[in-house]
Amino acid sequence: MTTTADQSLWLSALPASPRPPLTGTHTYDVAVVGGGITGLTTALLLKRRGLRVVVLEADRVASGVSGNNTAKVTALQSTVYSQITRAHGPAAALDYAAASSQAVAQVADLVQLEEIDCDLRRAPGVTYAYTESEVQSVEDELQAAARAGLPVYASVDIDLPFEVHAAARLDDQLALHPVKYLLGLAAAIDGEGSTVCEHSRVIDVTGNRVSTSDAHVTAAQIVIATHYPVLDRGLYFPRLEITRAYCIAARLTGPPPTALAISTGSPSWSISAHRDQLIVAGQSHPAGKNAVEPFRRLEDFARKHWQVAEITHRWSAQDPTAYDHLPMIGPYTPGSSTIFTATGYMKWGLTSGTFAGSLLADLITGKPNDLADRFSPHRFSLTSLPTLLKKNAEVAVEFIGDRVLPADATSSEKLPRGQAHVIRDGLGKTGVYRDEEGDLHAVSMRCTHLGCLVRFNAAERSWDCPCHGSRFDVDGEVLEGPATRPLPKRDPR
Ligand SMILES: Cc1cc2nc3c(=O)[nH]c(=O)nc-3n(C[C@H](O)[C@H](O)[C@H](O)COP(=O)(O)OP(=O)(O)OC[C@H]3O[C@@H](n4cnc5c(N)ncnc54)[C@H](O)[C@@H]3O)c2cc1C
Ligand code: FES
Repeated sequence: MTTTADQSLWLSALPASPRPPLTGTHTYDVAVVGGGITGLTTALLLKRRGLRVVVLEADRVASGVSGNNTAKVTALQSTVYSQITRAHGPAAALDYAAASSQAVAQVADLVQLEEIDCDLRRAPGVTYAYTESEVQSVEDELQAAARAGLPVYASVDIDLPFEVHAAARLDDQLALHPVKYLLGLAAAIDGEGSTVCEHSRVIDVTGNRVSTSDAHVTAAQIVIATHYPVLDRGLYFPRLEITRAYCIAARLTGPPPTALAISTGSPSWSISAHRDQLIVAGQSHPAGKNAVEPFRRLEDFARKHWQVAEITHRWSAQDPTAYDHLPMIGPYTPGSSTIFTATGYMKWGLTSGTFAGSLLADLITGKPNDLADRFSPHRFSLTSLPTLLKKNAEVAVEFIGDRVLPADATSSEKLPRGQAHVIRDGLGKTGVYRDEEGDLHAVSMRCTHLGCLVRFNAAERSWDCPCHGSRFDVDGEVLEGPATRPLPKRDPR
């Protein structure tokens, strides 16, 4: 089970045989829940400080967003410095830039020290104006990033096959194969009393005890690195907004560009490459809303600007953004010294998941870290309060509005293959999907997180919740949290 219906460019690198799940009763210094970049980086850094660590991954290592992205590791990230400066002032942008630059260096160091074969290459990070109307935002970002201490400069000399109206550029950033990188981190964690286990979904955390269906772990400290924090405490869901975005990989008749580029407009066009393949990403939208033919639009963009021989992969993923545009890294609940988390990476988590690993390792081992307050999940931003209230008002509208949405059919007899619709029955609303073989799959549409109604995502053939981004497959199984329980199955009609 992955976050996307089709394989990303990266996931075929996973070995055929999974690591064995954890069974029995164990004691570790730290239990890390989640085998993405956050969990694995944290675990490795803790192991290097002499702690015995277990990583419990529900599925396969890197099967979450960390294996379904565009693989740019860069401190220049679209217009992030303008946003952070607006929300928190220049000192916060300075901290974010320092942490991100350190993360880029740390990834390169870990690749070298652990001898990870992950196709690492140096490349410029670029924020560019695809249209004239984006020029001002690029110039603003150039200034904000420079004030934050990054050695950025203006240059439209970028190997893109269309007119770039303005661009901010930061040299010496990184592109890599994210799954190979994460497999390398996992291999480095193994040994000296530490281990990484796959197919080990954590279903309960009580006190210092973490449980899967087959194992119990007692650990002095616990890290919830599940992307969206899965524990039902800490009030994360009203403070995180989830956006979904789509990616394609294409084989070209010529070489792909080298830059790690992203435009500032809406839609934004993210461009990168792996070996001889071009990657184009974008078509972002709030999770649970439907994009109109996102893959076709990305393909059209690729074909407009390059000689495309073949579209080889299509995938998508989602990522949370905190209401005040800074990652949340630290104690799970205010003052907790036993449970920690990290989330809210705004689609830049290969960098911020890496610095989250360093910060969490410091917090867990009691090493002072100047960034602890800056990224604390429990900070409060008065400037961003209106955004928080607006987002939650939107969720409230979804919550109430859904209850009066009409059903669109009374029977599924004529439902075409590959399509879904909503029928009302005595139990409420039922979502019915007819697969390509003609079989019907029916589930309750009431999200098992807090009860909003899910919507069908035609691009991914999943039921997605507009409130906090939970996703379910057509048989109701959880694809992504915060929901942890499946949608109840219903009789198809
Ligand atoms: C389209 C797209 C493109 C992106 N491109 C980039 C990019 O180019 N550069 C960049 O820096 N960032 C990018 N990102 C963002 C980046 O990929 C993420 O921010 C980052 O990978 C998040 O890492 P994570 O470890 O927090 O989450 P994940 O990688 O999702 O890891 C969480 C893990 O926890 C596991 N899990 C969940 N629940 C449980 C449980 N109960 N028990 C055990 N395990 C559990 C999941 O299976 C998963 O493997 C992109 C995001 C998107 C959506
Ligand atoms: S994800 Fe919160 S109600 Fe669905």
